Amino acid sequence: MARSSEQFTCQSCGETYRKWQGRCESCGEWNSLLESTADVAVPSGLSTGKGRALTFTALNADISEYKRTASQIGELDRVLGGGFVPGSSILIGGDPGIGKSTLLLQAVAKMAMAGSPCIYISGEEATQQISMRAQRLGLADAPVQLASANSIRDIITSVEKTATPKLLVIDSIQTVFADNLPSAPGTVAQVRASAQELIRLARKTGTSVILVGHVTKDGQIAGPRVLEHMVDTVLYFEGDRGHQFRILRAVKNRFGATDEIGVFEMSDAGLKEVANPSSLFISSPDKTISGASVFAGMEGTRPLLVEIQGLVAATSQATPRRAVIGWDTSRLAMVLAVLDTRCDLSFAGSEVYLNVAGGLRVQEPAADLAVAAALVSSISDIPVPPGSLFFGEIGLSGEIRPVGQTDARLKEAAKLGFTTAIIPAGSKVKAGPMKIIEIEHLREIVSLFSETKPMTRAV
Ligand code: TYD
Ligand code: MG
Repeated sequence: MARSSEQFTCQSCGETYRKWQGRCESCGEWNSLLESTADVAVPSGLSTGKGRALTFTALNADISEYKRTASQIGELDRVLGGGFVPGSSILIGGDPGIGKSTLLLQAVAKMAMAGSPCIYISGEEATQQISMRAQRLGLADAPVQLASANSIRDIITSVEKTATPKLLVIDSIQTVFADNLPSAPGTVAQVRASAQELIRLARKTGTSVILVGHVTKDGQIAGPRVLEHMVDTVLYFEGDRGHQFRILRAVKNRFGATDEIGVFEMSDAGLKEVANPSSLFISSPDKTISGASVFAGMEGTRPLLVEIQGLVAATSQATPRRAVIGWDTSRLAMVLAVLDTRCDLSFAGSEVYLNVAGGLRVQEPAADLAVAAALVSSISDIPVPPGSLFFGEIGLSGEIRPVGQTDARLKEAAKLGFTTAIIPAGSKVKAGPMKIIEIEHLREIVSLFSETKPMTRAV
């Protein structure tokens, strides 16, 4: 028998408490506990043998009906692992105004035009607003079935009545509610229940469901983390509001790799795919200014060249500033410490700014060497050698360690006109058109900039 009792649920992480308290002990969020009703189930006699016997199948079962449907947007398909898997559920998170609704509207419109029935349900915008956007994007003729709704019961009934759609978009999961729950839309219980219903619908009908999720101020998808566990795929749409570039990143994917990214450019005609993103994030290889270096990075299987900008500025403050955009602050502190201790290059009296051009976020340790090059170039006021690029991980003793996928990085760089690669010794390089400078220790980077001018500048 089930009995109902009062409890308090954290709206941020889903943890439950018997009593109200100001701060959730599980996630540290303040003021996030809300009263909710819990069903306290008293389990009894499950092992009576009255269940239905399961039919087991082999791993090589027929999967032909699980053929993926291409979204008609190449960059989206790349992140999904080759299109939508029938019956799968996808959660897409991102800051407000980053372009989630735009991307999904474009996806449903293109799929609908290619002959797959698609439904787009918005709980945030009126249908007229969406039509207005579609007309502006030149997609008004696409046979998308559009509705504005909030009740999960209405949504499920309508979708079940429609000839099985290939794709159902719910924008956003925080705005829909189940009328059999007392809590308000957007609360953990509501988000969880609505998502569960939609995922069940997806499995039953073979429709792929995309749920748009709001993110909290620290970048997590709002509502319980369990939402991320429930769905098959979690995507984040990110980018800097001040820049046009948008990056779609998979953080969980049951049907593909999670290290792939899709790159888009926001224009007045919506999101455009960027098939060759490297050229966006670097300036021309023969431009010579001090404090900038090019990093040959990898995002999944895709090489991506990005410009790293460093600025070392004099300051009279006792605690000089260190500011980083697009990279890890503690990694910068490490590179500075290694330059100081192993290469006698002091940044103690200087402010240090580091910026990854184009609003991109670099996560690879392989960027260490390019960062060091940009900083040494800035402090010495000597540009990096023209047409050169860098990659390699820096160890605490100043040694440069090889990183993976050397060939893919070099090939991309050669394609974009780079002529010299400054890379870790021991990288296995196949003969190619580039001049390769292999270095073993960070000191060799410093000496690269000290041949023509004295190294340390008085600050
Ligand atoms: P939107 O898709 O509504 O964002 P989200 O659903 O993630 O909140 O995107 C809105 C932003 O995108 C808005 O700031 C304007 C911009 N935008 C363009 O620059 N060009 C366009 O063609 C469209 C449709 C939007
Ligand atoms: Mg939106």
